[in-house]
Amino acid sequence: MPISDAAIKSAELLALERKYCSFGDTVHYLDPPKVFVSCEGSTLHDEQGTPYLDLQMWYSAASFGYRNPRLADALKRQLGRLPQLACQYLHAEKVELAARIAQYCEKRFGVKGRVQFNVGGSQAIEDSLKIVRNYTGRNLMFAFMGGYHGRTLGASAITSSYRYRRRYGHFGDRASFIFYPYCFRCMYGLKRETCELYCEDQFEKLFESEYHSVWDSRAEVSEYGAFYIEPVQGTGGYVIPPKEYFVRLKQACEKRKILIVDDEVQMGFYRTGKFWAVEHLGITPDIIVFGKALTNGLNPLSGIWAREELITPEIFPPGSTHSTFSSNTLGTAVGLETLKMLEEEDYEKLVNEKGAYFLAGLRELQTRHPGIIGDVNGLGLALRIEVCKEDGITPDRKLTDRIFSEGLKGDMEAGGCKYGLVLDVGGYHKNVFTLSPAFTITRQEMDLAVELLDQLFRRCRAQ
Ligand SMILES: Cc1ncc(COP(=O)(O)O)c(C=O)c1O
Repeated sequence: MPISDAAIKSAELLALERKYCSFGDTVHYLDPPKVFVSCEGSTLHDEQGTPYLDLQMWYSAASFGYRNPRLADALKRQLGRLPQLACQYLHAEKVELAARIAQYCEKRFGVKGRVQFNVGGSQAIEDSLKIVRNYTGRNLMFAFMGGYHGRTLGASAITSSYRYRRRYGHFGDRASFIFYPYCFRCMYGLKRETCELYCEDQFEKLFESEYHSVWDSRAEVSEYGAFYIEPVQGTGGYVIPPKEYFVRLKQACEKRKILIVDDEVQMGFYRTGKFWAVEHLGITPDIIVFGKALTNGLNPLSGIWAREELITPEIFPPGSTHSTFSSNTLGTAVGLETLKMLEEEDYEKLVNEKGAYFLAGLRELQTRHPGIIGDVNGLGLALRIEVCKEDGITPDRKLTDRIFSEGLKGDMEAGGCKYGLVLDVGGYHKNVFTLSPAFTITRQEMDLAVELLDQLFRRCRAQ
């Protein structure tokens, strides 16, 4: 059988990649790496033209669907008018976008604040660290086990995984990592119905004595400037916490002048069915960090919102932070269009309705694989499938990896067509499918997703 042109091209590309590209990114999590050539809505296409239903959408960066026409048009308009401008000068879209985000926060939380832009999520995290250090004079942070805030050096210091730090020397500012309220795998072996938030009590116990290392009880000063939270843990496995935990945590931190920094890089812009995921928790953060979906994966743009007191020009003067591309005109134009779109359409309703439909399908799938699918849960369109051994709790990383790789073979069949499935793996034990489908996903596509997942579970369990 003759080898197709597409296959030859793909083989050449992989050979070049193997020789000239660093393996330091995440491409070689899969061997051989996968090549895609086009995308549309919820679908990626490989070089053979096979469609792959994407349930991860660039880790929630392309929430509004690949090649979303409205957002793509905003980018094209800006390309034709003001595609480049040094960030030292103003352009309308930057100012309007900052105003809309700050006005939303003021309306939602009743707090005035300002916005500072940057390019990627990690860089915005770095900016937030500067704001905390500058305002509190403290450089130590609390963060959660299972938390992920990026891989620049500063962000790595507050990201829980030691694997991301191990080869890069000493991290003097490494965060103090606290148990996240991950009730399916409670660190204390308790059940939510009866635990009375024992884990939060343990955090507060740190402040009972100066000898617990974080608090000077005479001066009434903490050595820690802020607590970095994810309202739903992203890379940690789309872990949905009990709201009450955060209400108490906020009180505990406020009492001790420890700021709350809310990392919305993955969950912001309606991923969980609310504009900010933190709105589910009933608390007001001091700083919000955002990125990813703001530009739907087009020209990247990230940023922070901080309450006025922390970011007022007297405290955070010109030049406090800067990056050449930090408020690039293409990114701000798309971001502004995204904000307009979010104001014009009822995304709360849309995301929650689709999320409920998909979750019901996944719960039905769970009944077909009892134990093996140990947990299924979701908030809006942030959904999780935790893969376990038959006992329903022991993580099964190997099966998870197999399903992930098989999905990318693109050889499944449904309704007479060939398909692949794009998944993302997260979780403390790398045994969780973290699903962040496009908000444009249809019911038929969600049904197809459940059908393809079922095929993958059956195929890989039999192997
Ligand atoms: C919660 C969270 N914070 C920060 C980051 C880092 O963002 P970036 O990869 O754009 O640097 C990520 C990326 O996945 C994230 O999920």
